[in-house]
Amino acid sequence: MGKIIALHSYKGGTGKTLLSVNLAATYVRRGKNICLLDLDFRAPSLHAVFKTNDAEYWLNDYLNGVCEIDKVLTDVAEKHGRSGRFLVGLANPATEAIREMSAKDRKWEMRALGRLLSLKTALLNNMHLDSVIFDTSPGLQYSSINAIVSADIILVVTSLDISDIQEPEG
Ligand SMILES: Nc1ncnc2c1ncn2[C@@H]1O[C@H](COP(=O)(O)OP(=O)(O)O)[C@@H](O)[C@H]1O
Ligand SMILES: [Mg+2]
Repeated sequence: MGKIIALHSYKGGTGKTLLSVNLAATYVRRGKNICLLDLDFRAPSLHAVFKTNDAEYWLNDYLNGVCEIDKVLTDVAEKHGRSGRFLVGLANPATEAIREMSAKDRKWEMRALGRLLSLKTALLNNMHLDSVIFDTSPGLQYSSINAIVSADIILVVTSLDISDIQEPEG
């Protein structure tokens, strides 16, 4: 069965998005069926990479329980001259959406965790994808931790800054 890979970092700007996109594209070039999801709702990026500002449904809608995941995903394989599946799910970059996602309470985050966990069945079992890649939000907020605990493999992307690499005390 395929795996969910999350790219995470303590701070922003370490290269998570660049690595996520390149990892996904490399897998697709090798004939794998991939899904790349922008879970950085505080600073969405993949809409800029894939040049989409007006998606009908965003990952925000999936986590809010407004729609199922198939409505959110767009297959960009053909557009990029590839066969197979290269599914992309975007975070809503509108200011209102960013503000709304940043203000979610714990109860909402718990429900969102359930929705994230069920992606494993929906994408890996039912849609038979080889890998799902999560481009996560940096730091230790609930939404970041939710993405990490839903993943099978976590790649932590760091800079050489002392706050990134020092060992925690205790
Ligand atoms: N290995 C790298 N070498 C040079 N520039 C990089 C590298 N990784 C990322 N960048 C650049 O650094 C900036 C932040 O990268 P990004 O992937 O958006 O980080 P994050 O998603 O962690 O916030 C972008 O302008 C990106 O092009
Ligand atoms: Mg990013």
